[in-house]
Amino acid sequence: MKQRRLIERIIFLDSTPVVDVGLKPQLGGTVKEQMEINLKDSRMRCANTNLAAKVCVAQNDDGSKALFERMILDEERHATILRRSCIPSRRWGIRPTTMSQQL
Ligand SMILES: [Fe+2]
Repeated sequence: MKQRRLIERIIFLDSTPVVDVGLKPQLGGTVKEQMEINLKDSRMRCANTNLAAKVCVAQNDDGSKALFERMILDEERHATILRRSCIPSRRWGIRPTTMSQQL
């Protein structure tokens, strides 16, 4: 959904979206490792999206800024869920809950 909104925005701005970016997912050896990798990725997406919103401010592009701000809030929500899933395993050795249990 986020990708579609971004593509629509790029087309609206009379440009051509590049959609052939290769994804290289990092895999953890355990559920805990995977959750921590996902949390790190989520935090990085928050930081990158914040930077994108700042570029939009500098360019007076309020429409794109609003899109990125919504994406930041979504990603912060994901990061919160992942962080909560990781904390019990660190503190008490309890198996992290799955994303499906959180959503
Ligand atoms: Fe996310």
